[in-house]
Amino acid sequence: MTEQSAAVVREQPPADDARAVEEVLVLDFGGQYSQLIARRIRECGVFAELLPANTSVEKIRERAPKGLVLSGGPASVYEEGAPAFPTQLLDLEIPMLGICYGMQAMVLALGGKVESAETGEFGRTDLVLRDGGGRLLGGLPEEQSCWMSHRDAVFEAPEGFTALASSPSSPVAACELPDRGLYGIQFHPEVVHTPYGTEILTRFLRDVAGCVEQWSPQSVIAEQVAKIQAQVGEGKVICGLSGGVDSSVAALLVHKAVGDRLTCVFVDHGLMRMNEAEQVVEAFSQFGIPLVHVDAEERFLTRLAGVDDPETKRKIIGTEFIRVFEQEAAKLQDVSYLVQGTLYSDVIESGGSDHAATIKSHHNVGGLPEDLEFELVEPLRMLFKDEVRAVGAELGLPERMVWRQPFPGPGLAIRIVGGEVNKERLDILRAADAILQEEIRAAELYRQLWQSFCVLPVVRSVGVQGDGRTYAYPIVIRAVTSDDAMTADWARLPYDLLERVSNRIINEIRDVNRVALDISSKPPATIEWE
Ligand code: XMP
Repeated sequence: MTEQSAAVVREQPPADDARAVEEVLVLDFGGQYSQLIARRIRECGVFAELLPANTSVEKIRERAPKGLVLSGGPASVYEEGAPAFPTQLLDLEIPMLGICYGMQAMVLALGGKVESAETGEFGRTDLVLRDGGGRLLGGLPEEQSCWMSHRDAVFEAPEGFTALASSPSSPVAACELPDRGLYGIQFHPEVVHTPYGTEILTRFLRDVAGCVEQWSPQSVIAEQVAKIQAQVGEGKVICGLSGGVDSSVAALLVHKAVGDRLTCVFVDHGLMRMNEAEQVVEAFSQFGIPLVHVDAEERFLTRLAGVDDPETKRKIIGTEFIRVFEQEAAKLQDVSYLVQGTLYSDVIESGGSDHAATIKSHHNVGGLPEDLEFELVEPLRMLFKDEVRAVGAELGLPERMVWRQPFPGPGLAIRIVGGEVNKERLDILRAADAILQEEIRAAELYRQLWQSFCVLPVVRSVGVQGDGRTYAYPIVIRAVTSDDAMTADWARLPYDLLERVSNRIINEIRDVNRVALDISSKPPATIEWE
């Protein structure tokens, strides 16, 4: 429910192979930066998709990509079972760029020499061009830094290739055979620590592979609208809104495609932040999208009364959400499609685009039950989060919704810890959270933080205000930086900001007399307190 809930997939929509725009395929040898390669290529205006390194040559031929990029990978080319360079790829005569392991595998297969270097190179490394840098690196500074992550190195390029650069432990840190469209670089152009990385990728894409910039939020919208229309035909569609950017953008795309045959259902469980429900309703009514706003606060709070165990809370909220959603869905006639905000990162994590749609179960408060048979419409299946935001902005989604930090499906209920969730505590937490958000936005830090929020532990401590003693709740500030919520670091918020937030919370909220800051990273702590 953070973004979407789940339902049974009756039939999968066709895979995304039929693209209106040209594409580059990234063959993934398992490197930690493989996704980043695809993202960077897309940032250059070219659609890129990640496929497993063992994808059949036939399939690649069918896709007719303008270029192939072979990613890095954790193996040594000499390890038993290490993925080999599929030499049949050469028959396709598609320009190819090998990165790190991808380069080594290519070089080895073509008769070059790859060996274990005496010392590996991990991190920032000096790169020196050789013989002017050739087609790929020519014109760039003779000496530059780059990001490396390898132990094996290329000692000799294959026959016919030109060596383009070297680094302390990589005699051949880049090489090329332009006549056959083959290029290899030992370093990682996709990471920001390689200052000329984007330039090098652009050269491969534009000068070598002949790609033109076609991939943009506008092209995504046009492509997805056509796809949704083809899938849905005259059918009716339902979409559960959470207030998050994924479900909102998915709904906007579907609405653009099918108009009023889409109905959005927003189950307002009363556990949202200050004014958030109103923002959702306002935004969607501005777009003229049919929206069923179910004010279910009382219903949820009644069920949550007396419950303080975190998992029980989650379960109750999940079950109740399903009930309400089902009731609303049943009122709508003949709906056979359900919009789901699955992202490309979910698709990759579940093993790639060939796999059946994976339902975002990880942190969902509850999937929809199996007897609700809908066909899924997943217009964000090929998009990274930042692309979803760009599409949302292009479609006119308000800035607050485009840039909303992730918010858990069970909402504020899992931020009231060690006690029952009730209206009084929710209002205190909401007021504190609103102050924190306001100050963080004013300090222009909101977008830099993965999440920032307040927690209300259900304990009271003594304080003194004016001439009297108080006995009131503490508020804990939690702000973290992260890329994917798997790991997180506590944000070093400026002291003056913390001071302002603390003063305002204590002065403006009667029932709070103490503010604390959570300075734990994940692991060992988690982002949320429950
Ligand atoms: P943790 O607390 O596990 O959180 O470090 C990782 C990310 O998941 C979010 N989260 C949830 N999202 N339902 C959700 O939809 C939940 O029950 C839930 N618990 C945690 C959390 O906000 C963070 O982004």
